[in-house]
Amino acid sequence: MEIFIARSRLTLIFLLFVLISLCFRSSTSLSSSTTESVLQVLTAERRIDLASHIIRVVLTLKVQNDGASPASNVLLAFPPAQVKHLALIQAAEVAGKKRKKSIHPLDVKPSNDINGPNGAKLYSISFRNPLGTGGSVSIEVSYILTQSLEPFPVEISQSEPQLVLYRDSALILSPYEIKQQTTVIRTPSTKVESFTRVEPSTQIRTELKYGPYEDQPSFSYTPILVHFENNNPFAVVEELVREIEISHWGNLQVTEHYTLVHNGARHKGGFSRVEYQSRPTISGVSSFKHLLVKLPPRVHSVYYRDSIGNISTSHLRTSFSKSEMEIEPRYPLLGGWKATFVIGYGLPLEDVLFESADGKRYLNFSFGCPIAETLVNKITNKVVLPEGSKNPTAVVPFSVERHAETSYSYLDIVGRPVVVLEKENVVPEHNSLFQVYYDFHPMFMLAEPLMLTSVFFFLFVAALAYIHMDISIRK
Ligand SMILES: *[C@@H]1O[C@H](CO)[C@@H](O)[C@H](O)[C@H]1NC(C)=O
Ligand SMILES: *[C@@H]1O[C@H](CO)[C@@H](O)[C@H](O)[C@H]1NC(C)=O
Repeated sequence: MEIFIARSRLTLIFLLFVLISLCFRSSTSLSSSTTESVLQVLTAERRIDLASHIIRVVLTLKVQNDGASPASNVLLAFPPAQVKHLALIQAAEVAGKKRKKSIHPLDVKPSNDINGPNGAKLYSISFRNPLGTGGSVSIEVSYILTQSLEPFPVEISQSEPQLVLYRDSALILSPYEIKQQTTVIRTPSTKVESFTRVEPSTQIRTELKYGPYEDQPSFSYTPILVHFENNNPFAVVEELVREIEISHWGNLQVTEHYTLVHNGARHKGGFSRVEYQSRPTISGVSSFKHLLVKLPPRVHSVYYRDSIGNISTSHLRTSFSKSEMEIEPRYPLLGGWKATFVIGYGLPLEDVLFESADGKRYLNFSFGCPIAETLVNKITNKVVLPEGSKNPTAVVPFSVERHAETSYSYLDIVGRPVVVLEKENVVPEHNSLFQVYYDFHPMFMLAEPLMLTSVFFFLFVAALAYIHMDISIRK
C-alpha cells in the first residue's frame, strides 16, 4: 500500500515537472517571437496597377534588423477588406542592382496565430538566411487583388463609359515602422474623376503618386478613394469545369464548360445593335465581343459551341510555340450579361504524358483558365485517368481542394479514377503546370480490345451455329 502511494506521488511529481517545463517552453517561444519584431522598414515602394479588373501590386521593401538576435522572417499586413480578395501572393529576395540583379523566391504563409489591430491579417515571409543584427535585405512582394473595383454608378446605359471606385490606404499597412515610403497608382487612362489627397499627392498623366511620407509608425492607415474610368473587359468566369481525359490510345481530350459574365457596371435601358456597330468607340465601350483563348501548340479538333450549337465565328491560329483562338459569343456582353459555352480540343498524348524515373506515368498540364485576363470564381479540373490506373496523386504548386471520383464510359467495367482539383479566385497567374502521377499496368490496355474481340467471337460462333442448325420441321 505504502509503495503504491509513494509511486503515485512520484508520478504526480513527474507530471508537475512536465507541466512546468511545458509552460516554460511556451513562454520562451513567445518571447522569441516578440524579439523578432524589432525589424524596421527603411524604404518601401508600392506600385498598384489598376489598368485591368485584376489588380496587380508590387511592393518593394528594404528591411533592417535592429534587434539583438537574428530574424528569420518578416511580416506583411493586409486590411480585412483586401484579404478576402487576395488571389495570389509571392515574394522574392532581390540581390544586386540593375543588370546583376538576382531574384530568389521566398516562402509566404498566412500567419494564423497572430493578428494585427482592427482585424488586419498578417502574412509571414521567411528569409533565405537569418537576418543578423544590423543587416538589411531587399524584398519584392507581388500580390493580386480581384473584385476590388466597385462600379460607380452601378448602372450605365449603352452610351456611357464605365466608372469605378478603388479603395486603399495612402500609407502602406505594416507591422513595422517605415522610414520612407511612396505609393504609385496607375490608372488605365488620364480620366480620373477624383482621388483623395493626402499631401504630398500628385497626378502625372496616368499615375497618381502618394508620398514620399517619412517616419510612419507601425499600422498607420489613411483611407483613400480613387474614382476613374475603366472600360477594360470585366470578364469573370463564374464557374469553369475542365474535363481532361487521358486515353492511352494516344489522345488527351479537354472539354471546358464556361459560365462567363460581364462583372462591370450593369447595363440599363435598351440595347441598339445598330448604334453599337456604327459607333464602336462611344457605344458600349465597356462591353466585349471577342475573347482570346491561349491553347497548347499542337491542338486538333477544336470546337466552340453553346446551347444552340457550334459557333463558327472563331478564328484559330496555330504556330510552333502556341495556338490562339479568338472566340466571339453570339451577342456582345454588356454589364451583367452572361454567356455559357463549351470549348473542346484534343492534344497528342506524347506532349503531355510522361514516365517518371520510378516507373509511374504522369500528366503534365496547365491548371488555369486559358482565356486571357479573366478571373475565375471557381475552377474544377477533373482529370479522368484510364481504366485500371492506381494510386493517383496530384502535385499542384498552390493550395487546392482535392477529392476523388469514378467515372464510367462505354465498355468500362471497374470505372475510371478521376482526380478532382478545385480552387476559388483563380487569376491568369495560376496558369502554371500541375502533375498527376499514377500507376498503370499495360495489361489493362488489352482489356477493352479483348472484351470486344470476345464479344465478336461469341457473335460469330452464335451465327455459325445458327446457320448450321437444322430447325426445319421436316424430318
Ligand atoms: C461541332 O463541331 C465539332 C468539331 O468540329 C463536331 O464534331 C460536331 O459534330 C459539331 N456539332 C454540330 C452540332 O455541328
Ligand atoms: C512539365 O512541362 C514543362 C514544359 O512544358 C517542363 O518545363 C517541366 O519540367 C515539366 N514538369 C515535369 C514534372 O516533368
